[in-house]
Formats: sequence, C-alpha cells, structure tokens
Amino acid sequence: MTAKDPFTGAAVVAGVCGWPVRHSRSPRIHNYWLRRYGIDGVYVPFAIDPANAVEAFRSLSKLGIRGLNVTVPNKEHAFRAMDALDPSAERMKAVNTIVVREDGSLHGSNTDAYGFLESLRESRPGWRAETGPAVILGAGGAARAIVSGLQDAGAPEIRIANRTAARADEIAAEFGVPVKPVSWDERADALEGAALVVNATSLGMEGKPALDLALDALPKDAVVYDIVYVPLETPLLASARARGNAAVDGLGMLLHQARPGFRAWFGTDPEVDAGLRAHVLADLGK
Ligand code: ATR
Repeated sequence: MTAKDPFTGAAVVAGVCGWPVRHSRSPRIHNYWLRRYGIDGVYVPFAIDPANAVEAFRSLSKLGIRGLNVTVPNKEHAFRAMDALDPSAERMKAVNTIVVREDGSLHGSNTDAYGFLESLRESRPGWRAETGPAVILGAGGAARAIVSGLQDAGAPEIRIANRTAARADEIAAEFGVPVKPVSWDERADALEGAALVVNATSLGMEGKPALDLALDALPKDAVVYDIVYVPLETPLLASARARGNAAVDGLGMLLHQARPGFRAWFGTDPEVDAGLRAHVLADLGK
C-alpha cells in the first residue's frame, strides 16, 4: 500500500447500513481510524431498504464483507437475522454491530450501552455507577441502552421519566429492580439525591425545543449527561455547568460505540482522540 492508495485489492471491507444512510457519521469515524492506523481496509455506506435487509445480511459472507454497523430502521431486522447474539443485543432486542465469522455465520451485538459507559468514564475518570441513583429522561432506544448499561455497571437505583408514561413503565417492568418509573411532571423532584442525570430524549437537539428541567433539587456533585451532540452544548448542559455540575455531551457516546466493531473487523482497538473529535465535529458543523 502506498501513501496515495487508501486501500488495495486485499482490503478488509466493512460498512454501515441504513435507510436512508446518507446522514450516518460512521464512515467518517471508521475511515479516520483506518487512515490513522494505516490499515488496508475500507468502510462504506450501504443504503438497504428494510424490506431487503435480511437477504442483504445473509449475503454478507458471500460478498466477503467482514461486517456492518446497522442504523435506523434496520436494527430490529438485524436482531432477527443473526445466527448468534451477545447479551447486549438480547437485552436491546436490536443489533447495531454485525460481525461475519470465519464460517460465514453472523454475530450481532449492540454497542450503545458500551459507548455510553465508556464515554462517561473517559469524561469523568473517577465516575462509578454505584455512587448513587441515576435519573433517565426518555424511553426510546437510547434510553433503553443507557438503562441497561447503568444496571450492569451497578447503579443502585435508576429513575426513568418519559412524556409517554407507558414506555417508561415498559422499560421498568422489563429490567426490574432497580429501575423505577417516575411521572414526567415530577421529573424535577426526581433529581433529589441523584448522582447522574441523563437526557435521552431528542429535546435540546438543533431545531427542537430545550428540555425543560429545573435543576434545583440536583446535588452539585452530580454529573449531567446529554446524549444530544448537535449542538454539543445544549441548554441543559449550559445550565448544569452554570450551577457547578459536571456536564458531558453526546459526542463521546457516538464515537465510543463505534470501537467494538472496528476492533472486530480490522483487528485494532481504536482510540477516541482529539483528532477524531475534530474530524467528526467539522462534519457536524455542516
Ligand atoms: P431513540 O430511539 O433515538 O431514543 P425515540 O424512540 O424517537 O428515539 O425516542 C425519543 C425520546 O424523546 C422519547 O422518549 C420521546 O418521548 P415519547 O416516548 O413520549 O415520544 C422523547 N421526546 C421527543 N420529543 C419530546 C417532547 N417534545 N417532549 C418530551 N419528550 C420528547
């Protein structure tokens, strides 16, 4: 391989599938790492209609493709098409990372909970789930991953509030102790004694209203985490910082969830460094 050739005929091929897929940041992340580590590989977007998703997954080994990330709306289809699932995918009932094994069988995992925990540990190196209760706002796929990660990490109590109460109740029933549903109207009171609060709704995202959450009851040593990354500094994080709480933005979760797939396909555990952040941020600004 020369400096001019990003990959050769021997390149390892992986990619991301979605419908549409053009909004995906994954090609930018993985191709940055491929260049940085000088790996003979390529990571490409595949626009795959959900109606064809299972057939497409079954064809991966025939095409010699090493694996895929899976995004909306194909994660549940991927869940049903795998030969083997790891516990993270079983719990999420959704697959975001497919690895084609040497015998051609398909292994599915879900790296969102991992991405959340790793980004939290990177931003707050002393952070430990056991420290105290966590409050999660939202009950979509992201909230489910975060609840699962926090439960595995040993959070003593996880309070979950969602505008549509039934979705929070469903997650609480499914995960059991220590997950407790809280009504959306009482979300500010639920911050009492919390060690961590996570916005897992789409509120605060560019073009959406801010999350309306009074932080008065939140202890000053609690960490405030927002899964939103456009913008990086949401109104929630700005008000957390203003009162002295540590604030963590959603970019780290996006970057860290990509690591297990890269490691499995390309054989190197990639680093989330300042160069990667800058490279992805330059694209988010567009
Ligand atoms: P994802 O899978 O990415 O988490 P999602 O399933 O669409 O996406 O979830 C979005 C979350 O943001 C949900 O918790 C949603 O609340 P509902 O379950 O009531 O829809 C929440 N959300 C979106 N807009 C909201 C708003 N205006 N007020 C309160 N919550 C909102």
